[in-house]
Formats: sequence, C-alpha cells, structure tokens
Amino acid sequence: ESLAAFAHTLEAWYTQTSRDLPWRRTADPYAILVSETMLQQTRVETVIPYYHRFMERFPTPLHLADADIDDVLKMWEGLGYYRRARNLKAAMEVVRDRHGGRIPDHPDELKALPGIGPYTLGAVLSIAFNRPYPAVDGNVLRVMSRYRAIEEPVDLPKVKRQIEQDVAETLERGTPRVLTQALMELGALVCTPKKPRCSACPVVSGCAARAHGLTDALPKRLPK
Ligand code: ADE
Repeated sequence: ESLAAFAHTLEAWYTQTSRDLPWRRTADPYAILVSETMLQQTRVETVIPYYHRFMERFPTPLHLADADIDDVLKMWEGLGYYRRARNLKAAMEVVRDRHGGRIPDHPDELKALPGIGPYTLGAVLSIAFNRPYPAVDGNVLRVMSRYRAIEEPVDLPKVKRQIEQDVAETLERGTPRVLTQALMELGALVCTPKKPRCSACPVVSGCAARAHGLTDALPKRLPK
C-alpha cells in the first residue's frame, strides 16, 4: 500500500468515526496549544472539563499572559505536572511581547516558546495551521512501529527520526490537521498497547506487523 493510500484511508476512517472532542471543534491555535499541553500527560476524559474551564477563564493568549500565575495554577489544580501551566503562561507572555498576541505559525518561532518540544510543535503546526509537521507521541510511535514492523527500539533517536520522517511524508499526501489526529485516534482506540483491535483497523491490509505476526511484540523499547 502506498503512502498516499495510507493517508487517504486514514482520513476517510477518521472523518467517519472520530470522537467529537471539544478541541476538535476549533482551529484556534491557542486552543489547540492549551489542549495538547493538557493532553501530554493526562487522559482525554480527565482533560475535557479542565479544558472547558481553562478556555472560559483564559480565552485568548493575552488573557493568559496578563493573568496572575496563582490563578493559572489554581485552574490547573488536579492535572498535575504544574511546569506545563507555568510554561504555557510564560509562552503567552512571549506571544504578547514579541508576536502581537498571536501564536506564531513559524516553526522556529514556535520552538523558541517555553515548553514547546517537538511533539507540541508538530501538534500545533499540523492541527492548527494544517502544515505537514509530525506530532509523534507514544500512540503514534506504536502505530507506526507496527505498521512498518520496526523491530529496533522506538526510543532510539534514529528510530524516532525515521518515524517522524514517515509521518511527515504521510501528512504531505493529505490533510495534516486530519491525519495527525487520525494517527492519534487510531492509537487510542484501535492500535492499543494490549489487545489491539486489528479487525477494526482501516489500514490492516498494509500493516507489516500484522503480516509478520509481530503486533503484540511491538513497539520494542530499550531495556531500562
Ligand atoms: N492526545 C494527544 N492529542 C490528542 C488529541 N488531539 N485528541 C485526542 N487525544 C489526544
């Protein structure tokens, strides 16, 4: 199966079956940044009420930049990893002071904001700005390591780079904002760590792990 077919099949599947999540109803880069920051170490069901409250209280980058840090931390209470909240506010101060209050759409400018690592960078660029930058989290590593039957540990930098390249080329063959979320959705609902639901997978026909009986053995990790 070609990359173009992979991209097309994923998009069609996502368009028909994806969950209606609050941050999927917006293309506001700030809202996408808030949601992706919350989703980095926290489950979807937990994030939903926090996301609504946070966006109501701090609806724009300027609201967050001008807020009192204690009020921001208060809204984050229960989510944990408070460094995320501090970085998000610090990032919006930079957005206020250097970018006219708008989240930049340039990779180098985004990357320079506090707390923006490779994952968040790819998520904002692809989901909010529809640009073909890969957002590779644990879900996407699992999906791609299986689809390609990559037997080397996914925590090796060269393997991560290879998967990022593969995802970038996939995004270039379709709609990045749809494909990024389709890969996440596939990892969350179908290509799960245990008991993957291969019978429900839209791309099973091209899956190398499935063809070689490796699904349950992948992804491999470096020994701790
Ligand atoms: N996990 C990380 N990003 C996500 C998103 N946009 N939707 C659902 N789960 C996610």
